[in-house]
This record gives sequence, C-alpha cells and structure tokens, in this order.
Amino acid sequence: MKFFLDTAMVDEIKTANDWGILDGVTTNPSLVYKSARPFKEVVKEIASIVNGPVSAEVTTLTAPEMVKQGLELSKIADNIFVKLPTTTEGVKACKALSAKKIPINATLIFSASQALIMAKAGASFVSPFIGRLDDVSEDGMQLIRDIRQIYDNYDIQTEILTASVRHPMHVVEAAKIGSDIATMPFKVMEQLFHHPLTDIGLDKFMADFKKSKA
Ligand code: G3P
Repeated sequence: MKFFLDTAMVDEIKTANDWGILDGVTTNPSLVYKSARPFKEVVKEIASIVNGPVSAEVTTLTAPEMVKQGLELSKIADNIFVKLPTTTEGVKACKALSAKKIPINATLIFSASQALIMAKAGASFVSPFIGRLDDVSEDGMQLIRDIRQIYDNYDIQTEILTASVRHPMHVVEAAKIGSDIATMPFKVMEQLFHHPLTDIGLDKFMADFKKSKA
C-alpha cells in the first residue's frame, strides 16, 4: 500500500520524506489555506520535494473552467495530479483531461457509483472520504470494500486512494481490504510507528546492555 500525506505543510512533508516511506501528497483548498502560503508557490515546492504524485485541486465549477485550470495546474510540475470534484461537470472535465494524458484524482467520493463513474471517465485515482462518512454515522470502510469489489470484477486499473483518514486503524483496515493508497494527516503517519510495548522493550534492552559486560 502506498502512503500519502494529506497536508500542505512543507515541514511535515520533508520529515516524512526523510523517513523514506512517503509515496505522494494530497492537498485540497482547505489544507492550502491552513498553510497560509500562496497556492501555486506551495504546490510547486511540495512537488519538488516528493518523488511521487502530488494532488492539486481545481477551484472552478464548470467543465470548461476545470479543464482550463487543470491544464494550468499540470504545468506546475511533472508529478501533479489534478484533483476534480465528482460532479457532472467534474466527470466531463475528467474525460477531457484524461484524454490529454493529465492524471486525475477524483475527489469527494461518497458512493461506489461515483467511484465507478469517475473510473469510466479515466481517473487515475478515486478518493473516497471515509472519515466524513463515519462522521455522519455511515460505514466509511464499507465503501472501500464495495469499490475494491467493483474494480476487481472488471479489472479496473483506477487506484483507490482512501482519504479522510482519522486514525491508524483506518489505514490498517484499508490495507486489509486492498486499497491501493491511503492519504493521511502527518499525525496519523506518526501514530503508525508507535507501540508502547516497543518503547518498554527498547528501554529494557538498553538498560540490560549497559549492565552487561563489554
Ligand atoms: O484531502 C481530502 C481528505 O482527506 C479530507 O479529509 O479530514 O478533511 O475529512 P478530512
């Protein structure tokens, strides 16, 4: 499973990149706003750090505008994936941009039918928002299972990018189902490493090593 960071904070991206386990980055307008930096400037810097896909989202609502903006975004760097909303206009823009070999991340996916449609329109990634489904008492992880089953039924190559991840078990459950990618906040990526028994065990090994004869 590929690990993406869901952030526009460059310091977090550099840290995870140094760990050697970062496969890509997803941003959205809210995350860029949080970074308090100009959109294109921050996306360009992120794309220069990460050796993998960096998603940059359109902020327009009609297909012609999305196509125009998507083409501009794709010029920022070779590893830019254009994030399009899963709407009727987004479907049209997805078809048009995919035909021009611009890789698309279809975002704001909340149903299996949306994932099926965006794959048909040529999306490279679909982003089901599992945490936001859990927030409204729906089973976000069931959506990942449903999309996996449908894509496997038809050998669809579009990758499932599990998004709106809130805790490490979301990542583990998505991996068990066979999600291709999980994008997560920096805090969740850090949490993946930690186990209290590892810390206790390491303390004991270090203490015993100090007591042992050289
Ligand atoms: O980047 C899209 C998605 O991961 C957003 O997550 O936590 O705002 O629902 P969240």
